[in-house]
Amino acid sequence: MGRVQLWYKVLKNYLLGNVVTPTDIGNSYDLVSSSYNDRFLNIMHKYNIVMLSQISLPEQAKVLDLACGTGFNSEYLLGLRPNYTIDGVDISEGMLKEAALRLRGKVNLYQDSMLSFLKNCKDEEYHMIICSWALKYQPPLEVLKECNRALKPGGQIAVILNSRHTLPEIRRIYKHLLIRNSKGIKKLMLELPNPKNEKHLKKWFIKAGFEEIYTFGGAEKFRFDSTEDMTQWVTSTGALAGFDIMVDLHDRNIKEQVSNLFRQFGIMTVTHDFVWGRAKKCE
Ligand SMILES: C[S@@+](CC[C@H](N)C(=O)[O-])C[C@H]1O[C@@H](n2cnc3c(N)ncnc32)[C@H](O)[C@@H]1O
Repeated sequence: MGRVQLWYKVLKNYLLGNVVTPTDIGNSYDLVSSSYNDRFLNIMHKYNIVMLSQISLPEQAKVLDLACGTGFNSEYLLGLRPNYTIDGVDISEGMLKEAALRLRGKVNLYQDSMLSFLKNCKDEEYHMIICSWALKYQPPLEVLKECNRALKPGGQIAVILNSRHTLPEIRRIYKHLLIRNSKGIKKLMLELPNPKNEKHLKKWFIKAGFEEIYTFGGAEKFRFDSTEDMTQWVTSTGALAGFDIMVDLHDRNIKEQVSNLFRQFGIMTVTHDFVWGRAKKCE
């Protein structure tokens, strides 16, 4: 019965076009903006640094930090090259507030979606574009093509994002959560267009017109002592942004269900599987 009701809800919302929008995703990030640095970046920033260290840094550059979040990448680059001019864009007001605290006026911050911002950029405006943990939130190929247009000849791009195989533990329990709470579903969160693997990311770079492409894959396993801690973690990092709208993952009762499902399935780890890469625009 639960499954039938879920399919009915999914079909109804799909036909009515009730799907999670970029603004909804921004709202999800607003809710985790104060815990994002401690819970997610605290561990994952090492991969941001690996990604950034793939770029050769000229003395002077105009940089776009796309979906800049709380501003880690911009701060890191300014630490190495204080003369850089950096524009940071993000859809979440909450994340931008955290970025403003971190960056203290050293970066121009804009609240906008990646595609809308890029479409308003002039051709060949930037020497460098970086985008970490966000390319999936808008059609990636479209974003990469716009990045190519906005980069100067020889300009560099670096991205890191989850792969299609990320968070297998959450996938395992999420459908059960949906079945149990199908009544409350008001919007659908569609599958995010993450790349299958590093070869897939390379194909995107090629299709978007880039050359000198290098892509890699990696994974980070988070281990927890209790399913309550794990639930608190997954609901306060942004990892489930958008999925928290389909089922309210900030509700106490739902969190308890998540924790119980983890226990029932013997899940005590969460795996972030990801790919990253860099490429250049033709000279
Ligand atoms: C996981 S965080 C990554 C933030 C930052 N790049 C970092 O490495 O810490 C994802 C960010 O993407 C932003 N975001 C999501 N969808 C977006 C969109 N369509 N346009 C711009 N920013 C978006 C979120 O608000 C959030 O700050």
